This record gives sequence, C-alpha cells and structure tokens, in this order.
Amino acid sequence: MRVALLTGGGDCPGLNAVIYAAVRKGINHYGDEFIGFLNGWRGVLDNNFIPLTLESTDGIQLRGGTILHSSRTNVKKVPGGIEKVQEVLKLNKIDALIALGGDDTQSVTLFLSENGVPSVGVPKTIDNDISGTDQTFGFDTAVMIATEAIDRIHTTADSHNRVIVVEVMGRDAGWIAYASGVAGGAHVILVPEQEIDIDHVCNLLKYNYDHGKHYGVVVVAEGCHLPEKGQIIDEGAKVDSFGHARLSGIGEALAEMIEKNTGFETRSVNLGHTQRGGVPTAYDRVLGQRYGLHAIDMVHEGKWGRIAVLKGLDITDITIKEAIATNRRLDQRFFDVIEDLEAKV
Ligand code: F6P
Repeated sequence: MRVALLTGGGDCPGLNAVIYAAVRKGINHYGDEFIGFLNGWRGVLDNNFIPLTLESTDGIQLRGGTILHSSRTNVKKVPGGIEKVQEVLKLNKIDALIALGGDDTQSVTLFLSENGVPSVGVPKTIDNDISGTDQTFGFDTAVMIATEAIDRIHTTADSHNRVIVVEVMGRDAGWIAYASGVAGGAHVILVPEQEIDIDHVCNLLKYNYDHGKHYGVVVVAEGCHLPEKGQIIDEGAKVDSFGHARLSGIGEALAEMIEKNTGFETRSVNLGHTQRGGVPTAYDRVLGQRYGLHAIDMVHEGKWGRIAVLKGLDITDITIKEAIATNRRLDQRFFDVIEDLEAKV
C-alpha cells in the first residue's frame, strides 16, 4: 500500500517514535511505501510532502518534535478543503492516511473517513486528555520536565523565603499539574477540573510559614479558572482555526492574589513550551513506537475512522468519534490524592 502520515496540532515528544515504527513495520512487514505530508493538514492541501524511507527515518525515534512539522490547519474551515484533500491523495495514489494528532486533528480525520478517505488516527497530546486511552505519548516527558523544574523551584524559593507559582500546560484537564505537582512535592496543586478557592490556597501557604518552612511552591494548570477573572487568556494572541484562545498568565495573576492576601513575597514562572520540547523519555519512546506499530496494522485491517489507544498494558483501537466526544479529565480519585497530601488546615 502507499501510506501517508501527518502530524497536526501542538507537537510533543514521541511523534517521531510513532512515525519510525509505522514506517519500519510497514516497509519490512507489509512491503508498503510511505510519504509524510508536511505541516499537518496544511501539507495535504498544499500537496507538500517528503518520502519516508527506512533510511530517512533511521534514528528519529530518539528525537523530540516531529520531522514532519505541524500546524493547526482545520480542513473543515477551508472552502473546498475536503475535495482538495481527496484530489491530492488521489494524485499521489495514497491508499491510506495515518493522522497523528489531538482531538482537533482527529475531528478532521473523522470527517475525512466519513467522506470516503481511508484514514486512521493516533492520539497525541501532552495534556493526556483524549478519551478512551489511558495515556498519550509525550505526557510522561512533559511531567518529567515539569517535575525537574519544580525540584529546582523548591531550592530557590526556600533560599528567598518566597512563594513561587509554577504554571504548567493543560487546557481542559490537569494531568500535568497533578502528576508533576505530586512528584515534585508542591504544597498546592491546582487543576482546571476544580474551582480555585483562594482562601484555601493562602491557608495552605500560611501553614508552611507557621510551621517553620518559609516558602511555598504552587503548581497551577494554564486552564484553571480564577475566581471572578475566569481563565486567563493571552489577549494579544489570535484564536486558532479550531476556535481556541491562547491560555497564558494564570500563574502571574495567581501570584499577585497570593501576595496581596498573605503578604508573602510571591513570584511566578510559566514553563510553557519547554514542556513540549526536547527528547522523549524512554517510556514515551516505547509507547510512541507501540502506537505506530498498531496504526500500520489498523491500516492493513481497514479499520477506517478508528484510533489507536492504550488500555491497561495493551494497545488496541476505538472509534475516533468516541475518542473525541469528551475530554478525559481528572476525577475524585485524583482529587483525593491531592487533598490527602495537602497540609491539614
Ligand atoms: O497541545 C496542547 C497544548 O500544549 C496545550 O496544553 C496548550 O494550551 C497549547 O497546546 C499551546 O499551543 P501552541 O503551541 O499553539 O501555543
């Protein structure tokens, strides 16, 4: 078969591992040929691609980012977009498409598969919030990067007797805040699934100061809602073609509130895209390659409109419709972990 791959949406460590494994098994096991469209769905619309061979993908599973580059292009919003995609796939004699992306990218994959384009998905987001899969690749790396940053924040916050608020990614779900906050021993962990109670946050920090520890570390997910202010949006940034505003600045806004309410000197740091950069962890390299192997099997089994998922220890697949219907968010089990580890105030 002639198979095309693309990577859409925000990048994340492990994308190259998926590409590597799909190409390797496809060529060695099935005798496939591959191309990779560049810049997500934009590359399909522009007929912009590179050949993917055993040689050109050799060693990429170790590297971060995506050799195919990425964009947040929404084919559904482009007039004649679906026809153009069909035309380009026909022109290049493509038998199947593997799209690596989050719920936005997969909404396009679903739309295309419902319109006769043989396509399958691989779930991608460091936010780890795609339904039906226990974990997305890239999440483990993001948590490791955030945890290392929080470890470092402890010592400088301690030296200066300060509170430091660490803003991490997570638009709708607080998986990164939860995992890095717990791993990094944060005194306060704030996730978008729960309302922020400023008095409680300040009481937790005051507890430290009252008990001989004159500093505090707060981890907050970018998608949290502040009382009265709601989500903090970067007003200067454009809304993307899927309608998402850029979230940024909750750490700073929260730091101001904490300083005002407690009198403790407070700083903030936004880890931003450092969480998506650099080499994937060993776990993400393995997980990414397992997703890639399953994706090429799905192609040969004609599982159009389905997406690879991790269930327990197994890689299997579900419909894309199911995967993008809702976000997978933290629930009471995880709130309990946060609460049980908090100081009793
Ligand atoms: O891919 C998900 C994500 O990392 C979110 O956590 C974050 O809000 C967003 O992407 C940032 O997107 P961009 O790279 O386009 O600024």
